[in-house]
Amino acid sequence: MCGIFSLREGVFLDKYVIRGGRPLYGELEISGAKNAAVAIIPAALMVEGVCRIENIPEISDAGMLLTILSEMGARVRAVNKSTVEIDCTSVRGEGAPYDLMRKIRASYYLIGAMLGRFGSAKTTMPGGCNFGVRPIDQHIKGLTALGAQIEVRGGFVYASAAESGLIGSKIYLDKISVGATMNIMIAAAKARGRTTVENAAREPHIVDLANFLNSMGADVRGAGTDTIRINGVDKLHGGTYTIIPDQIEAGTYMAAAAAAGGKVTIKNVIPKHLDCISAKLREMGVEVDEYPDAVVVRHTGRLLRANVKTQPYPGFPTDMQPQICAVLCLAEGTSVVTEGVWDNRYKYISELKKMGAEVQVDGKTAVIEGVPYLTGAPVVACDLRAGAAVVIAGLCARGETVVEEVSYIERGYQDLVGKLQSLGADIRCISESDAYSSAVV
Ligand code: EPU
Repeated sequence: MCGIFSLREGVFLDKYVIRGGRPLYGELEISGAKNAAVAIIPAALMVEGVCRIENIPEISDAGMLLTILSEMGARVRAVNKSTVEIDCTSVRGEGAPYDLMRKIRASYYLIGAMLGRFGSAKTTMPGGCNFGVRPIDQHIKGLTALGAQIEVRGGFVYASAAESGLIGSKIYLDKISVGATMNIMIAAAKARGRTTVENAAREPHIVDLANFLNSMGADVRGAGTDTIRINGVDKLHGGTYTIIPDQIEAGTYMAAAAAAGGKVTIKNVIPKHLDCISAKLREMGVEVDEYPDAVVVRHTGRLLRANVKTQPYPGFPTDMQPQICAVLCLAEGTSVVTEGVWDNRYKYISELKKMGAEVQVDGKTAVIEGVPYLTGAPVVACDLRAGAAVVIAGLCARGETVVEEVSYIERGYQDLVGKLQSLGADIRCISESDAYSSAVV
């Protein structure tokens, strides 16, 4: 598995081999939240001093962002596997590695961070998982309202503020956007005066970014509601911050335990962040017990059907849609899933169908006829959460499932294979060299 600094870019040759049909028993620890880490690491660029960031997940998206900062001149030191010290004091805003930026969606946070710190930014148009059109018009709208001039040309984003810097402003987002909300928060942290973001996203990682910025001396209020106020400060100073546990990683193991059956204790979670997932699983007949920082998921027998609609937080998260679809494939009766955030997040359904799932997709709706069992097959991880969905299906399927292109999964799940193995799953990762050596023996 990759360490924080390992990129594994371009490695599409590893495979997971899963022999399904084993219930999951045991306990595991959830890692730091990916979508908080990928905003907090770029936000460290706003800070003059050492940011010690704890609970960074060991995933390739975090590794890529740390490498980008380091190539820009930041001093980045791994204290241990999940703690990093970042000192961006002497970064001058040049030398960004555009080839790396292009590979990761969250590189858009560098626009806000560079603009806020240096008054100008040049970044690539962001990459990331492909769910149809992924515009950044709300980021541009927000940063423009702060006085930046922004131009998108030839695959690059060029942004510049007036010589006097960014100026606080009132911004109403036309669409609830996690990325735009966070980008504006980062840029506005050192703008002159007050910025107000209305119709802001409310995800747990929005609150986490606000807490990070505040612990470095910023003045951000209202994160977690739909109105966020940022009073600009002159300078952000160093400090220590611990990233929250990953809501979606926890939800993924909850879904896996529901589908495969068994009893799993998921530790280091914030149960409140899992409310909508726990409620949906209970509706499906799964027992979910909550403790102060753990949930226990227990299930045997057939699951009940359910309808799911994804929405911005506190609604059911779009980043759990593929995983819950995989679970519903095995539920008794017909379930209807409606994707309320992205235009095209059902590409993976064709992979589940290879395993015997009965699903019809029409636009943003998937109608799932539950089947009594799935059958192992060779499948592809189309993107991060789609990858998690086919792994869940593989854990329940009869026979062997081989999942290809697992580098997508490693972008966002720390040691998925090791954590599932610790619960008794029969899953292993075969790398290209292993495949070669077993072929030549
Ligand atoms: N949108 C616009 N204009 C914008 C920005 C977004 O129209 O300027 C639209 C999008 O097309 C989408 C909706 O608004 O229909 C929500 O997009 P949002 O900006 O909230 O998404 P994001 O910031 O690009 C983050 C996560 C995604 C997660 C979404 C929604 C990161 C790096 N990515 O993306 O996470 O699906 O929020 O919660 O934080 C994942 O982890 O698997 C993942 C894809």
